Amino acid sequence: MSNCIAIDGPAASGKSTIARRVAEKLNIAYINTGSLYRAVALAAIRAGRDLSSLDRSFLDTLKLEYAENESGAYELKLNGAFPGAALRTAEVAAGASLVATQPVVRDFLLGVQRGFAGERMVVMEGRDIGTVIFPDAAVKIFLTASPEERARRRLAQDGESPDGATLAEVAREIAARDKQDSERAVAPLKPAPDAILVDTTGFSLDKAVETIIGLTARKLQESGICIMK
Ligand code: CDP
Repeated sequence: MSNCIAIDGPAASGKSTIARRVAEKLNIAYINTGSLYRAVALAAIRAGRDLSSLDRSFLDTLKLEYAENESGAYELKLNGAFPGAALRTAEVAAGASLVATQPVVRDFLLGVQRGFAGERMVVMEGRDIGTVIFPDAAVKIFLTASPEERARRRLAQDGESPDGATLAEVAREIAARDKQDSERAVAPLKPAPDAILVDTTGFSLDKAVETIIGLTARKLQESGICIMK
């Protein structure tokens, strides 16, 4: 069994906030794997590469690591610097979804992601953590919420949507990314057969966090793993 609590789900399903809060509660590390795809897209845009056909030699030049930022939190570093808000633009989100369709990119990031789980339990959030990266994860959660609710959440996140975007535009952008993520041939977005499905439509953030922490605690207990504080 891998020391990983896998939290998968579509865009703006609440994964990042919930995964971070679960990790804080358990006092363990949190890895947002979407940032890795976003970092690859950002590096390719900066290098003037064609995002639809990246090659391994370019990927091998990228340095991806987690390091402590100014406030002491662990954050992704790309080629020695924190990309910060540059990762969260709509252009980089669309680019991430495009590079994520390429087997060469997924294969490169598979090794990077597996390197993050070791002796200590980690919370890892993404699209294929429970299906491909850690099929034997200790806990697997698949989060969803209605498309309308996800669009509302995304619009409320600063810097994540183009200035002045309407709810309908954001909903379209999310739907396009969901389609690309679910229909791609490699590692499509889908729940693992043994994942616990949680629909957070209509849940407050606190209720969603409480629900996931409760399910995680029960699953860890059933497996005889003791890490709860
Ligand atoms: O924050 P949001 O849910 O909008 O996206 P993200 O988690 O930052 O992921 C950005 C894109 O990376 C997604 O649309 C996926 O195409 C891709 N991704 C993936 O394919 N596999 C993962 N494990 C994580 C992200």
